[in-house]
Amino acid sequence: MAKFFPIPLLSFLLIPHFFFAKCSSHLAPALYVFGDSLVDSGNNDFLNTSSKANYKPYGIDFPSGPTGRFTNGKTFADFLAKYLGLPFVPPYLGLSKDQKSETITGMNYASGSAGILRKTGSAIGMNLALQIQIELFEETVKHYLPKNFKTHHELLKYLSKSIFVVDIGNNDYLNNYLQPARYNSSHLYGPVQFSGYLLKELKQSLQDIYNLGARKFLVFNIGPIGCTPALVYSQNITSGCAENLNQLVSLYNEGLPNMLQELTASLNGSTFVLGEFYQASYDLNQNPYKYGFTNRSSCCVVNSATSQCLQDVSPCKDRAKHIYWDGFHPTQHANYVFATGCFLGTTQCTPLNILELTQKH
Ligand SMILES: *[C@@H]1O[C@H](CO)[C@@H](O)[C@H](O)[C@H]1NC(C)=O
Ligand SMILES: *[C@@H]1O[C@H](CO)[C@@H](O)[C@H](O)[C@H]1NC(C)=O
Ligand SMILES: *[C@@H]1O[C@H](CO)[C@@H](O)[C@H](O)[C@H]1NC(C)=O
Ligand SMILES: *[C@@H]1O[C@H](CO)[C@@H](O)[C@H](O)[C@H]1NC(C)=O
Ligand SMILES: *[C@@H]1O[C@H](CO)[C@@H](O)[C@H](O)[C@H]1NC(C)=O
Repeated sequence: MAKFFPIPLLSFLLIPHFFFAKCSSHLAPALYVFGDSLVDSGNNDFLNTSSKANYKPYGIDFPSGPTGRFTNGKTFADFLAKYLGLPFVPPYLGLSKDQKSETITGMNYASGSAGILRKTGSAIGMNLALQIQIELFEETVKHYLPKNFKTHHELLKYLSKSIFVVDIGNNDYLNNYLQPARYNSSHLYGPVQFSGYLLKELKQSLQDIYNLGARKFLVFNIGPIGCTPALVYSQNITSGCAENLNQLVSLYNEGLPNMLQELTASLNGSTFVLGEFYQASYDLNQNPYKYGFTNRSSCCVVNSATSQCLQDVSPCKDRAKHIYWDGFHPTQHANYVFATGCFLGTTQCTPLNILELTQKH
């Protein structure tokens, strides 16, 4: 059975009051989610890794408490699901075979610490690397979904109208390239070469998802990792962000728009929307007051080695005033700001916002 958690209308959800009420029917038949801890909804709870968020205070603002989401409440994917009129997207690894067969509103394959490259994150345990996530999606398409459709054509039509979010790449830097003692990549590749390698691998992965039937994509770029409390702290920055690290990931971000345009042009019937996570997040850091944020340090008390929240230690009370929940991850409120901009706005998700993407034939 697909899980459905009714969304409590929090005081800051101003635009969606009107919007959620209006869309009682789906704007898309399903939302499929690939990625890392920014959108993991609990897959890592089922893996042998220290990259887990299944304990308090994670989930303090989520209806059912800690779920494995790496934030205090809802992720970007949760807000997107609500905007689309869909239930929250369940973690693939948490579903029984029967549940997998019955779930036709989308599944989540995202995994904390995972990256585009298979080795990414391996030093802290297991994860679902992007290629493994795609293998699980292939199993979904070939084994589970067909039970719900009379013909193969109907299945293809459903997939072509569904939304596919791919939010990955942060860990290829944080849990790979920037850890030379644990990973080889910075010995083997210069910064420009490495970004090109990541983009080439990602392009192949996006084609693989297309070949399984996906047509409507939202692909995130990498966030301003140099602004995260963890790296601001480790780089001894007293104000602003570690711009050297932001410049490093910008090499990747500069190549991504062209690659997505090429895919849209070459893959028949496809649309690839760019999620400008970097700019949106950078803007939050530069102009926090514009969005009601007043505090750039993490809300929960973090373990200085992992930058994850310390278990059972009370977090800050004014959570909607913080951009960051722990050392790396945005708060629910920051996720909400980005999801709202991406769904309805004109700058965060381009060349179409997600509402426009759902209307595309
Ligand atoms: C989990 O990973 C740790 C560290 O890599 C390892 O020592 C342990 O044996 C693993 N446990 C299982 C059940 O695989
Ligand atoms: C890293 O590279 C060195 C030298 O090329 C090699 O000996 C080593 O096995 C590599 N380590 C990993 C984890 O790939
Ligand atoms: C930050 O400061 C500490 C203590 O002064 C020092 O050990 C460390 O190397 C510094 N880190 C960076 C990236 O400069
Ligand atoms: C693109 O797909 C449409 C149907 O979706 C088909 O009619 C058309 O022939 C295809 N074009 C190419 C170049 O494959
Ligand atoms: C920011 O939040 C931290 C953690 O809750 C807190 O210790 C600090 O006093 C806050 N700073 C401001 C300026 O509110």
